[in-house]
Amino acid sequence: MAPSKRDIGVLLTGVGKRYDIVSAFAQHATAVAADPSPLAPAQYAADHRYAVPRIDDPGYVPALRELCERHGVRAVVPLTDLDLEVLAVARAAGELPAFVPDPEIARATFDKYETHLLLERLGLPTPPTVLPAESVESFPVMVKPRWGSGARSIHRAADSRAADFFVEYIGEPAMVQKLMDGPEFSIDTLSDLEGRCLNAIPRTMIESRGGESIKGTVIADNELVDLGRRVAEALCVRGPCTIQVFRDKDIGLGITDVNTRFGGAFPAPMYAAREGRTYPELIVRMACGESIEPHVGEFRAPITFTRYYWQLELDEELRPTGRDIGEPPDPRPPG
Ligand SMILES: Nc1ncnc2c1ncn2[C@@H]1O[C@H](COP(=O)(O)OP(=O)(O)OP(=O)(O)O)[C@@H](O)[C@H]1O
Ligand SMILES: [Mg+2]
Repeated sequence: MAPSKRDIGVLLTGVGKRYDIVSAFAQHATAVAADPSPLAPAQYAADHRYAVPRIDDPGYVPALRELCERHGVRAVVPLTDLDLEVLAVARAAGELPAFVPDPEIARATFDKYETHLLLERLGLPTPPTVLPAESVESFPVMVKPRWGSGARSIHRAADSRAADFFVEYIGEPAMVQKLMDGPEFSIDTLSDLEGRCLNAIPRTMIESRGGESIKGTVIADNELVDLGRRVAEALCVRGPCTIQVFRDKDIGLGITDVNTRFGGAFPAPMYAAREGRTYPELIVRMACGESIEPHVGEFRAPITFTRYYWQLELDEELRPTGRDIGEPPDPRPPG
């Protein structure tokens, strides 16, 4: 039975290639996609698609407000880091019903060095991290851009000469962090509008490319579930959040990144969530004013996902022609 689609709008911003997320929302609400690029593929999963001004344009928030009015939007959900702070400010001013944290948290988590300081202040585990001019406790380290995304310009340095070189080479504000030696995980959390964590679903990182996780396994690791809940509640997150963490052989858990939006492996929490409790469904229910009982740790595991590309042919007006190379392969097991 197809899920019933509620009579409310959800506005997804910066949709880019995140077709699966837009498509999941479109099953439960009127999905409105906004992206400045006329070729953003994920817009074709939405009921309505709009090219909006760029995020730094003063017309950005007014354009989103206009879309909210036109389509009865009760939840604005950003799909990139780029407009998180702008949406957080607009939310705090009562201008947009955005599922984002307070502006200070949005600002701090966009800067990986500020994230480190914030986690330290909150008593949450974070690897030793310094600015380039400061001395390093031990090597090897990772040199990373403070405002990096999509795993851009991240370099391992075995000594201070190499670290200095990479700081210079990447040509943007950098930070120097202990190289974590051990497996890496991500925890996908969802919080309500009061900052209560509703669920936290950890997964392994088998393969990632440009910020998207290609292969991974959802795991029932209680230490990670608990860490995810603690981080989401300490930061008073609203809506989805993804926490990246390593389990280092010497220092144990250390958080290397916090993104207060859907992370790079949307299928993982989708497959793992119990019936009726996928994150898009819960967001739509919260947008309708429903209060959701926290159910942290209730999910199915282990579940492994593996991802592949798909595409759309467009006509001269950039409308999908409906023609394709073939049907997606039948995913059912043979025999
Ligand atoms: N301190 C560290 N020790 C070891 N590896 C690290 C460390 N920091 C980052 N990495 C590696 O670099 C990848 C990207 O790091 P990070 O999340 O900090 O950057 P990002 O630009 O936000 O990338 P992404 O979009 O993939 O999350 C991590 O998934 C990890 O494999
Ligand atoms: Mg990251």
